Amino acid sequence: MSALPSAARELLALARKARDFAHTPFSGFKVGAALRARDGQIVTGCNIENATYGLTLCAERVAIFKAVSEGIDRFDAIAIVSAAKRLTPPCGACRQVLWEFCGDIPVHIGDLRGRTRTLPMSELFPLPFDAKSLR
Ligand code: THU
Repeated sequence: MSALPSAARELLALARKARDFAHTPFSGFKVGAALRARDGQIVTGCNIENATYGLTLCAERVAIFKAVSEGIDRFDAIAIVSAAKRLTPPCGACRQVLWEFCGDIPVHIGDLRGRTRTLPMSELFPLPFDAKSLR
């Protein structure tokens, strides 16, 4: 039995579905993300790889950029799902972007076996450089 609230479980289920669309001909490592906006809308993303490798976009940033490009810019939570042995936390670049657009939201990470963990962004990304640092 999961102690996770149903909203978090729903977000993880949508991230898992989004993972099916991952474009990963180079790594084979598929990731899905689902981002919940404050108004309840959910925007998903998957990782999209590129032959130049460096142009690859992670699932989390695809979800955030999709949302922001549609005028959705206030967020409540994100879920990230992979099939890795260890649960997949956001990479460093995604932590920076998540912090700037979402602030201290809960990050639900999960796998295909139903294992989950929830961490706040402030724990994943302590001492951030952000807009306040530019003052
Ligand atoms: N990846 C993500 O999509 N999200 C993460 O949090 C970690 C890494 C992707 C990028 C690349 O396509 C593949 O996983 C291997 O690094």
